[in-house]
Amino acid sequence: AIERALRPKVLDEYIGQEKIRGQLEIFISAARGRGEALDHTLLFGPPGLGKTTLANIIAREMGVNLRQTSGPVLERPGDLAALLTNLEANDVLFIDEIHRLSPVVEEILYPALEDYQIDIMIGEGPAARSVKLDLQPFTLVGATTRAGMLTNPLRDRFGIVARLEFYTTEELAKIVTRSAALLKAHIDDSGALEIARRARGTPRIANRLLRRVRDYAEVKSNGDITKETADAALVMLDVDTVGFDVMDRKLLEAVLYKFNGGPVGIGNLAAAIGEAADTIEDVLEPYLIQQGYLQRTPRGRVATPAAYQHFGLTPPRTSLTGD
Ligand code: ADE
Repeated sequence: AIERALRPKVLDEYIGQEKIRGQLEIFISAARGRGEALDHTLLFGPPGLGKTTLANIIAREMGVNLRQTSGPVLERPGDLAALLTNLEANDVLFIDEIHRLSPVVEEILYPALEDYQIDIMIGEGPAARSVKLDLQPFTLVGATTRAGMLTNPLRDRFGIVARLEFYTTEELAKIVTRSAALLKAHIDDSGALEIARRARGTPRIANRLLRRVRDYAEVKSNGDITKETADAALVMLDVDTVGFDVMDRKLLEAVLYKFNGGPVGIGNLAAAIGEAADTIEDVLEPYLIQQGYLQRTPRGRVATPAAYQHFGLTPPRTSLTGD
C-alpha cells in the first residue's frame, strides 16, 4: 500500500526500461489517435521491476479505467465474465500472475480477446444453453514472471510483448533520489548510489532499502542518508556488498558447499535450502544468473568462478560444464 506513493503515474516520470517506454509511448499515442483500445499487452520479468506500475501508467495515459485482478483469484468462468461485462470502452483489465489462470477461465478469455465476445453457459444439465455476449473493446494487460509459463494460445493473443530487464545502478540511483524527495528524506548522491548498488537491480527493493536506511539514519544519526549511514544500515539488514540477502547467499552456499559447485537439479536445491522451486526460479535465480554468479545448464545449476570468489573460495580449474 505504501509502495503506491512512490510509483510514477505517467511514462515521463518512469525511469529505466527505455526500450519498453519508447515502444509504449508510440503504441499508446497511435491507439489514442484512432480512438481505439490499445492492443493486448503482456509484461513479463522478475518481481518488483514495475509490471503493475506500467499497467497503471498505460490506463492513465490511455485516459481509461483500470480494473485489476490476478490469475489465482479468478476461480470460475463467472468471476472473469463479471469483470469483462463491466468494462467501459477501451478500459484496461490488468491480470497479474496470468500464468496461474485455470484452464476453464482461460477458455472464456480467448473469444473475449479476439472478438470482444464471451460465451457463457446458463443453467445446468439438459436445459443448459450457451449465450453470446458482446463486450466493449478493451485492453488486457497480463503480467507474469516467466513468459514460458503461458500456454501458446494465450501468449499468441498479445499484440505487444514486453520483457522487463533489471535496472542499472545509475537508473536505481535516480529512482532512490526521486523516492527520497517524495518521502522528504535527506540523501546525498553517495547514499543513493550505495542503496542502488545493493538493490538487486530492482526498484521495489531499492525503495524498501531506502525506507529502512532512513529509519536507521534518523535513529542512529542526524537523519541524513550518506554512503556511511547507508552502508551501516545495510550491514545491519544482512544485505552484503553486492546486494545479496540471506536467501541469495543460502542458495549460492548450498550450490558451493552442499553440491560441490554443481551441477545440481532444482528439486535438490529446493529441498536443501527449504524454499519452493518456483520461488527459486522466479525470485532468486534471475538476478544471480544475470550478474554471472550462477549458470543454468542441462544438468542443473552450476556456481561460476565469481560465486567462488564472492565467498573467498578458489574456483576449480575444470570447465563449468565439466566437459
Ligand atoms: N519507482 C519504482 N519504480 C520506478 C521507476 N521505474 N521509475 C521511477 N520511479 C519508480
